[in-house]
Amino acid sequence: NPAPVAATIPAPRHLPDAQTVTAVTHWTDALFSFRVTRPQSLRFRSGEFVMIGLMGDNGKPLLRAYSIASPAWDDELEFYSIKVPDGPLTSKLQHIRVGDEIILRPKPVGTLVHDALLPGKRLWFLATGTGIAPFASLMRDPETYEKYDQVIMMHTCRTAAELDYGRQLVEGLRSDELIGEMVEGKLLYYPTTTREPSALMGRITDNLSSGKVFADLGIEPMTAVDDRAMVCGSLAFNKDVMAVLEGFGLREGANSEPREYVVEKAFVGEGV
Ligand code: FAD
Ligand code: A2P
Repeated sequence: NPAPVAATIPAPRHLPDAQTVTAVTHWTDALFSFRVTRPQSLRFRSGEFVMIGLMGDNGKPLLRAYSIASPAWDDELEFYSIKVPDGPLTSKLQHIRVGDEIILRPKPVGTLVHDALLPGKRLWFLATGTGIAPFASLMRDPETYEKYDQVIMMHTCRTAAELDYGRQLVEGLRSDELIGEMVEGKLLYYPTTTREPSALMGRITDNLSSGKVFADLGIEPMTAVDDRAMVCGSLAFNKDVMAVLEGFGLREGANSEPREYVVEKAFVGEGV
């Protein structure tokens, strides 16, 4: 007997700016990462974001800003995403599978780029939650290690499981063919939790203000002469970290006016 034919065969989709999903990893109930094909023409600077999405029920593209988590040299593009239960985009996006298509508008922008900082000796990446995404790109970019003697990745989440994507990425980097040697001894990783016991704990703001992170890593405190920082988290986090950085004498820069630190929102709103 012939195999039963599905009653409704979905019509082939032809999305505008379509890219095909090549991998999906679920990290927690609320976090996943995925990779898609990269448009040949897409050039971006590590740390930038693009608009991605799916076709909405109304037939119009439903797009959101997403940091590109993969480095500029990668053949594919990687994204690290929240799953907002009632979120217009992520309530659907969280169900994507290998072979599905997403929409990607190939116009990268953003402030978390090397060009927006004055030269320095140490570069700090300060992130909460999915705010690690732009640094997942920058940590894998050789330029980061060419420009700085030391790179310090501070990532803070409520629970240990929420740190897993970043932790695995840093561990993978150390054994990476392309970048492993550059990273060795240069990349310091300082993951902390705030609502679950783990090896290192506390908010980034508190660990910087108290000097705990400098003592734990055995490094000198921050100065405006040597240190540069990139910040990506919730609005409240960004605001509080900026005050701490200003306290060390660092000033906010931009593409048009490079200074000692730059900031970008990881999302708009209060968080989930
Ligand atoms: P939305 O209606 O967009 O959001 C609903 C609510 O969920 C928001 O009001 C907020 O309270 C909360 N929320 C949204 N995103 C987050 C988040 N990332 N973490 C915690 N709470 C959140 N999101 C990512 O997951 N990964 C990224 O790399 C990323 N990069 C971004 C870069 C920029 C510059 C900006 C402005 C936002 C970025 N976002 C990122 C957020 C993203 O644009 C969407 O908000 C998110 O995908 C949820 O979409 P949604 O339509 O499901 O819900
Ligand atoms: P805490 O648990 O002490 O609030 P959220 O999930 O709320 O976006 O928070 C992600 C992480 O960022 C949590 O570990 C949280 O710590 C921390 N955080 C939230 N707001 C701030 C802030 N204003 N300053 C420093 N850290 C913050």
